[in-house]
Amino acid sequence: MQPARPVYVAAQALTPFIGKGNPDFIDKSHPDFGKRENPSLEEHLVAAVQALIKNENIDPTLIQRGFVGNFAGELFSKQGFLGAMVARADPRLAGIGFARMEAACASGGVSLVSGVEAIQAGLDLVLVVGAEVQTTVRAREGADFLARAAHYESERGIDDFTFPALLTRRTKAYKEAYGLSDRDLAHFSVKAYANANRNPLAHMKAVKMTLEQAENASDSNPNFLGNPELKEHLRMSDCSQVSDGAAALLLASAEGLRKLDRAMKDCVQVRSYGICTNPLGQVQDLLRLDTAAGAVQEAMSDGSITPSDVQVAEVHDCFTIAELLMYEAIGFAEQGKGAELVLSGRTTLEGDIPVNTGGGLVGFGHPVGATGVKQVAEIYRQMKGLCGDYQIHKDVDTGLTVNMGGDDRTVVSFVLDNVN
Ligand code: CAA
Repeated sequence: MQPARPVYVAAQALTPFIGKGNPDFIDKSHPDFGKRENPSLEEHLVAAVQALIKNENIDPTLIQRGFVGNFAGELFSKQGFLGAMVARADPRLAGIGFARMEAACASGGVSLVSGVEAIQAGLDLVLVVGAEVQTTVRAREGADFLARAAHYESERGIDDFTFPALLTRRTKAYKEAYGLSDRDLAHFSVKAYANANRNPLAHMKAVKMTLEQAENASDSNPNFLGNPELKEHLRMSDCSQVSDGAAALLLASAEGLRKLDRAMKDCVQVRSYGICTNPLGQVQDLLRLDTAAGAVQEAMSDGSITPSDVQVAEVHDCFTIAELLMYEAIGFAEQGKGAELVLSGRTTLEGDIPVNTGGGLVGFGHPVGATGVKQVAEIYRQMKGLCGDYQIHKDVDTGLTVNMGGDDRTVVSFVLDNVN
């Protein structure tokens, strides 16, 4: 789709993404253990909205609609109905229409699509928030909750860690088809951690990852799957994090920008977008992300761009294999050549197509409902020079996001243009 009416990203805010391995996350080893708690789902959601209002000097009474991306609030936090939760962030938000959207790990992406389409339908200012808290239970129990984003009846049995196993089916098939090595995959992990180490908001900001550590299974980097056919093909360092966090964006029409008194140069424009869904539990080809390719193809062709026009990208690396397959789904690399692209260094901060500059889902973290919103916020932050130590040093006019729900079942992609 190309918006019939121009849509701008006028403001953004992110909470830090935290969880196990982050120095600010309170677990038994933290000095504040027993004295204070980690922020709740409500606190993350409210913090992102309050930061957006305060830091960007937004009058909340101008907001006409809001959408909240969240996958599993009921399971992890015993809390649903997050549209009405957002209205608790500021008394001036009372009376505005807010609703929650769910599409597994693409919940943030579909919330953004709803926001963009609300602007096209005639509204001028729409708030989009994504939030998730997942650290309330152990990873194994959380894996059962996340498995609700698979076809639970037919796919849950693949492994206690259903999603890591589903994506590892792809790693195994890809290794057999193209000779991918564990060292190739380790390069994705090393890039993610290196970028996160420069990002104070990242879950893995303080954890170092060398190629040797990422390549080799060890006590600190185990092959943790139970499934005997898949176990050897996944190490912990290949996985996205079980993170808590939230992200917020304010979408505006040109009239909305006038109401906010916001300059065009402080905005990013939604050039085009794509959304694609395929049947749950019916992956056709383990070697390709067909749904992602469909969403990206729609976004790029409707925006009249080709992969070589993309100057920065945020892609859904829920596992290292996913980033590789995303390169191919987008067209950054030919089928079977995704690893060559990461090995070339072209997708690092210094390369010509930096991908996942703040660390992606592996390094920055993956609070699932927040991820699709965070991806667009990240492109905004790169375009406006707000990324500090991980700022890329070139002018960025065009960026791309790809946010994936389930095992490539619903995918949302945005093409974004910098407005100077
Ligand atoms: N030796 C052998 N086994 C070990 C081990 C060691 N040294 N250390 C750990 N393990 C095993 C254990 O079996 C352990 O489980 P139990 O303790 O319950 O027995 C298991 O590995 C996990 O260990 P931890 O609980 O200590 O791991 P953790 O809390 O550090 O989490 C992780 C690590 C399991 C990789 C976790 O980060 C994770 O699950 N990541 C993936 C999250 C995920 O799947 N997100 C969704 C992505 S899919 C998507 O994006 C699309 C969608 O719509 C869902």
